[in-house]
Amino acid sequence: MTEAILLVGGKGTRLRPLTVNTPKPMVPAAGVPFLTHQLARARAAGVEHIVLATSYLAEVFEPYFGDGSSLGLSLEYVTEREPLGTGGAIRNVAERLTSGPDEPVLIFNGDILTGLDIGALVETHRGSGADVSLHLTRVADPRAFGLVPTDETGRVTAFLEKPQTPEEIVTDQINAGAYVFRRSVIDTIPAGRPVSVERETFPDLLSSGAHLQGMVDSTYWLDLGTPQAFVRGSADLVLGRAPSPAVPGRRGDRLVLDSASVAPDAKLTGGTVIGEGARVASGARVHASVVLTGAVIEEGAHISSSLIGAHSHIGPRTILDDTVIGDGAHIGADNELRSGLRVWCDTTLPPGAVRFSSDQ
Ligand code: GDD
Ligand code: MG
Repeated sequence: MTEAILLVGGKGTRLRPLTVNTPKPMVPAAGVPFLTHQLARARAAGVEHIVLATSYLAEVFEPYFGDGSSLGLSLEYVTEREPLGTGGAIRNVAERLTSGPDEPVLIFNGDILTGLDIGALVETHRGSGADVSLHLTRVADPRAFGLVPTDETGRVTAFLEKPQTPEEIVTDQINAGAYVFRRSVIDTIPAGRPVSVERETFPDLLSSGAHLQGMVDSTYWLDLGTPQAFVRGSADLVLGRAPSPAVPGRRGDRLVLDSASVAPDAKLTGGTVIGEGARVASGARVHASVVLTGAVIEEGAHISSSLIGAHSHIGPRTILDDTVIGDGAHIGADNELRSGLRVWCDTTLPPGAVRFSSDQ
């Protein structure tokens, strides 16, 4: 069966501070490092050999996933000395591939949660005889993505990464971050220097007349690159809206890992996950949020749509809505943090230090 490359070397800057100590693919979503869901879905589609292209915090992947046998996979790791960009990373792992020159190789961005039918993408690729086939999805605001217009047969006519001007927004079809490359095309990417597959390889292939084929579908799709998207994705996994064979428990309103402790009158809703060894005290409410390993939520705290870092501490009656609390941060009692606020790792916020609403 087809082998795959997973791109997991990005710095995850938009997810900071959660990506200060942990690379984005290793941040837990629905109780396990996010990458586990992608690996399990690839395995379920019949992929057996996966090469991880690592760069930022590269050393943490192998100790966790090892040779991949616990997932039924054969995993290899290749670390870039300097970040090589998406195309450079693909080229850099080429020597680990076993496919012949005309065989298809799957490539995945490492931060996508999707119900993509991987087998159907490979079939589209074989059927069209394309050099590269791309999974495309439609989004309301395509500006943060790669725009991929196609003709009536699905053949790609242009690739416009992160369009800057209104005139460039020619379609709502975007690159969904899953490709099939003919193996020999990978070998044509320049080696030993940074290359962006989106800004260099795809436009160059198109101008040289190569056949790029798009497969648009409307299945579940989310790029987990921002805190809002990450908590949404984790909650959707817990709720069963997003597909993954790797969620450690039953689908439902909440997922509480075995070693966590939750007071009987605490309310956990909206796909909240409570991580290993975390503690939620009496009267606390946690909605559509991710609470990581060893975090403590004190009495009467109200948390929604937030990412609570490992071993952080949320004081009594504190309100968090749409926030990211870094690992080890200590938020005192009676604070009110909202609207995308991000608290850095190991910060201490005294009781009553920050409020949004007016006091009576
Ligand atoms: N190994 C390695 N080295 N991996 C990298 C590097 C690198 O230098 N730079 C980025 N990556 C990995 C990231 O870890 C991520 O898994 C993937 O490449 C894409 O990088 P992002 O930083 O997440 O890119 P993006 O979300 O802004 O845009 C990409 O994804 C969109 C879909 O979510 C592009 O491919 C867009 O065209 C696409 O629409
Ligand atoms: Mg991304």
